[in-house]
Parts: sequence; structure tokens; C-alpha cells
Amino acid sequence: MRVHVALTPGEFPALGLAGRAALVIDVLRATTSVVAACAAGCRQVIPVPSADAAREQAARLPGALLAGERGGDPIAGFDLGNSPLEFTPERVADRTIILTTTNGTAAMLAAGGAEVAAVAALTNVEAAARWAAEQGRDVTLLCSGETGRLSLEDSVCAGIVVDRLAAEGPVDCTDAATTARRVGQYYAADLTRLAADSSWARKLTRAGRDADLAACLAFAGLSMVPRLAGGAVVPGPSAGGPAALAAVDGPALPEARR
Ligand code: MLT
Repeated sequence: MRVHVALTPGEFPALGLAGRAALVIDVLRATTSVVAACAAGCRQVIPVPSADAAREQAARLPGALLAGERGGDPIAGFDLGNSPLEFTPERVADRTIILTTTNGTAAMLAAGGAEVAAVAALTNVEAAARWAAEQGRDVTLLCSGETGRLSLEDSVCAGIVVDRLAAEGPVDCTDAATTARRVGQYYAADLTRLAADSSWARKLTRAGRDADLAACLAFAGLSMVPRLAGGAVVPGPSAGGPAALAAVDGPALPEARR
């Protein structure tokens, strides 16, 4: 299995994902929130590039929830921000969520060229690595980064996946994958060190979002691996079973009538 890690979004356009399995990573906080929303039983998450695009999509999907952030802060008029702690069963069960964030949703959209794609964070990293191993394909990990630059926490999460894949069988790693793996091995011993070492983590701390950091910088052992297909993210098999996967190939699902 050949494994590559795209450490910065600048690589996305020329990644060549055809035939490969892709994992999208934005530890702080978009993919951690998507994993939380899917584990909480949402119907789907639709990633979109902008707040305007989100509002337009919502006009076509009455009852859908608007979620997202800019600069780490909730977007005015939206139902939810981008804190994983907001995506509770009470708030999102059986709902469609239209999500736009600074970096994470762009990476989700960039993974559309892969044969199969899913979402990873530190909270489901073991299950995400197992999913990647089970695909029987070469693997590319897309790190969302921070406004085009490398993000330490995304590199760490990608590196831990690479390390788990290497434990499963022979891997042929690019230097970027090996670099991520070594960084992942270092921080896996104590993820909390990322709170001080990551620039975006320090930004969130200054914004008083310590609880978000505690939720994101943890091995929560979630079995949920959300799937990306047809422009939407849906809960993986462990939550939704065949029905959810069947929904992947159809158009965006209308909101369940209460
Ligand atoms: C992003 O997509 O840039 C992040 O998820 C931003 C955040 O919510 O902190």
C-alpha cells in the first residue's frame, strides 16, 4: 500500500486521488465536529465553501441546520458554530447540517476525486485507520491546514493513521507520510502538548475555547467513520448501517418531516 500525506492544502489540486482511498483531517475543529455530529445521529453533513453558499443550500433544504465558523467564531444567523460540543443528539439527530468552515470544508470538497473517502480526527483515529486499511487501495491523507499553512495537529493525526497502517502491513510511504508518522509517534504519547504547541490551539485558548481543545485533542476511541460521497458526509456503517450508505449515492436528502 502506497501512503501519502498532503501536509498543506496547496497540494490538493494536483493530488491525483483517482482510484485511491482518502481521509480528510481537520482536528481543530471541523472533522472532530463532523465525527461528533455523525455519532450523534445526524442524517448528513453537506460541506460548502461559503456562508452565502450555505444559505442558498438551506433555501433548497427546509429544516436543515446551518453550521460553521470564520476566524473560529460562529457565523451570524447560523444555528450552530463549529464546536464539537454543540453537535449533540438533542440538537442534530436525524437532521441535515450544512457546514462551512475556514479550512476543513474545503478539504472535504477536495477529496471528491477519490474512489472512496472518509473523515478522520483524533477522536476516531483508530477506526479511521482500520477503514483505510480495509479499502485495499493506496491511501492519501488530506490535512486541512490553517489558511494554507501546515497545521501541527492535522499532521499528528495523519501521522498516527500512517503508524497504524504500518502496523497492519507493508506500507510504501512518501517522505511527507514518514515525516507525519514520526511527528505522530512523538505527540501520541501525550496529545495535550498540542494545546501549547499548535498555533490554532493557542488561538482557541485565547478565545476561551478550552473545552473544545479538551474534546478535540483526545483519543476518544469513537467507532464512527463518516463517509464522503455525492457531495455529502453521512454516518458510517457503525451508526447508520446499509441504509445510510445507500443514501450516499442519491441527491441531498430532504429533511425528515416532524
Ligand atoms: C477550520 O475549518 O478552519 C477549523 O475547523 C476552524 C475552527 O473551527 O476552529
